[in-house]
Amino acid sequence: MAVNAAERSAMDRALQLATRGPRGANPQVGAVILSPDGTVLAEGWHQGAGTPHAEVDALSKLAPGDARGATAVVTLEPCNHTGRTGPCAVALIEAGVARVVYALDDPGAESGGGAERLRAAGVDVDSGEQADAAHALIDGWLTAQRLGRPHITVKWAQSLDGRAAAADGSSQWITGPAARADVHHRRAEADAIVVGTGTVLADDPALTARDGDALLSHQPVPVVIGSRPTPTDAAVHRHPHSPLFYDTHDLHAVTADLHARGIQRVFVEGGPTLASAFIQAGLADRVLAYIAPVLLGGDKLALGDIGVASIDHARRLTIDEWVPLGPDLLAVARPAAPTDPQNQNEGAA
Ligand SMILES: NC(=O)c1ccc[n+]([C@@H]2O[C@H](COP(=O)([O-])OP(=O)(O)OC[C@H]3O[C@@H](n4cnc5c(N)ncnc54)[C@H](OP(=O)(O)O)[C@@H]3O)[C@@H](O)[C@H]2O)c1
Repeated sequence: MAVNAAERSAMDRALQLATRGPRGANPQVGAVILSPDGTVLAEGWHQGAGTPHAEVDALSKLAPGDARGATAVVTLEPCNHTGRTGPCAVALIEAGVARVVYALDDPGAESGGGAERLRAAGVDVDSGEQADAAHALIDGWLTAQRLGRPHITVKWAQSLDGRAAAADGSSQWITGPAARADVHHRRAEADAIVVGTGTVLADDPALTARDGDALLSHQPVPVVIGSRPTPTDAAVHRHPHSPLFYDTHDLHAVTADLHARGIQRVFVEGGPTLASAFIQAGLADRVLAYIAPVLLGGDKLALGDIGVASIDHARRLTIDEWVPLGPDLLAVARPAAPTDPQNQNEGAA
């Protein structure tokens, strides 16, 4: 059965509800229970490990029997796993839910399989509704499950001719206020913001997420990588969180340690050296390039060596979005899969 308008707007709502939960060992999930005529009966969300899952939270707000024949709209496949709570698929079946619409399959080896269990019990199941939005919501958790490290975004601002700074090293500001506001908003979605010692010494950044002068409610933990000492009066020491310093160039070790600390989303805002090192190490799940209509010339390129010796080894990207920001343009991109058409090199034919 195709997903209807009431179910689509319930999924919008479930995605909003999911954000009320914390980012942590468990994913953020939202759920809405609809009556057969599309009226919202109950809403729920997951409030963190050890608490009821979103669909069970929503069911708990209904009297016994009220969910009979209802539709559950959930951002993640109902689990099929007894952990600290029972399987959600069973809770839905026992409540008499007739239909389940969910966005993303549960990738967990133990927790997956809920859809199959629901179907076997005669529940109508539809998946994939707003899967991209649901994926974006829990990309950090998904990367942690899949790769055992945080989801990593590498960001830089560049001139139209691909420079990250002027000849004297000054780079504040290449882009305009709208682009900078966008960066602050995205910083607030990250758990950690990472720079190299080069950026600390050149720019003395505060590494906070701000709206104008006001601090946003969520602040990423500041992280500085490199051997040179950070001056004791550097702005990063006044950050609401104590900075983490890593005296190493081993980015796999750094990201493993951040993962062990429960950090799921990393925002890399270093200079060209660190951005290139993350990309060369295969540690960039998303690239954000803010492109300003300005020419700087010179040798301060946005990226240095990323291990591409010839065009055959170019790191092809897939663009998810081009976002105009005042006079600037933001490219939101991710590594192209080997099978993507963008990954086919143009020959001279
Ligand atoms: N346009 C932009 O978006 C943007 C953003 C930030 C900065 N900038 C500009 O970029 C310039 C600073 O560039 P930068 O490249 O020096 O800054 P950076 O990338 O932040 O820092 C580079 C330093 O990080 C350390 N490091 C840590 N891990 C490393 C690894 N795996 N490989 C190599 N080095 C590693 C090294 O320092 P140690 O020797 O101490 O170990 C290295 O010199 C300034 O002009 C700044 O204004 C531009």
